[in-house]
Amino acid sequence: RKDLLDIVSLEREEIDHLLDQAVPFKELFTRSVKKVPALKGKSVLTLFYEPSTRTLSSFEVAANRLSADVTNFAVASSSIVKGESVRETVETLQAMRTDYIIVRHSRSGLPSTIARMTKASVINAGDGAHAHPTQALLDAFTIKEKFPDPTGKRVLIVGDILHSRVARSTSTILKKLGVEVAYLGPGSLVPKVGPENVQRFTNYEEAMKWKPDVVYLLRVQMERQDVQYFPSVREYHRLYGVTEERLRRIDGDGLYIMHPGPVNRGVELCDGVLDYSRSLINDQVENGIAVRMAVLYWLKPGGEVIG
Ligand code: CP
Repeated sequence: RKDLLDIVSLEREEIDHLLDQAVPFKELFTRSVKKVPALKGKSVLTLFYEPSTRTLSSFEVAANRLSADVTNFAVASSSIVKGESVRETVETLQAMRTDYIIVRHSRSGLPSTIARMTKASVINAGDGAHAHPTQALLDAFTIKEKFPDPTGKRVLIVGDILHSRVARSTSTILKKLGVEVAYLGPGSLVPKVGPENVQRFTNYEEAMKWKPDVVYLLRVQMERQDVQYFPSVREYHRLYGVTEERLRRIDGDGLYIMHPGPVNRGVELCDGVLDYSRSLINDQVENGIAVRMAVLYWLKPGGEVIG
């Protein structure tokens, strides 16, 4: 494979390979091995047209740990602000013979377009509401750490499903791994079309009767709202957020909580979630590095398995 553009097109064997490969990379990390020479001499360029904290820094750390040379293309101070097109930008990067382009853009499908323009391996770091494949891989890895055979486990994804590339990619990977997935959110933000065999709830209490093992909270994406769906942020918290009272019940039932970040405190979750003993939010961030190392290594031509 040259590129990683989405989860839909990945075979189950490829997903298993990437999740297996991330295990020794995480072990290196926890044994304080700072670097391996796996991508020495390779160049990685990050091209982020949208803001990012976790994905951008995680890819930078992952590439550094594999000894690649990493350049962060500063979109805001580039000729893009003078109107240079994506094609011209990519052709310029192609002329620099970069080996990997890691791209985030608000336009769904743009990473695929770029992949067709360049010989570099293109990794989608999030495109519009379409896909966020490395987030899905790190989510699956994090769930498998708790449930080594996740078949039949239940993950309830809560919030703004409609605008969420994370919901799309993570539910797709979980379904491929045999996990049962359900959505909970306001009716206008839980699409009726989409993955089959996904239960849809609009009421919190009804959703909890479904007995999830993991409650996966999504960030309410204020920047992507084009529909009227809740009267206020406070109302969203009351209807769908993990309040202190709901957190006590989640704790009593032994459920895990996940969130891709960045979190909106007081909207999708209360402060208590961040100290909750079964919160996997920091595990997700840590695992993102190992998973992205596995992805970079997998896309290296002729890369053999490190075990
Ligand atoms: N989860 C995620 O994509 O976070 P960032 O927007 O900080 O990269």
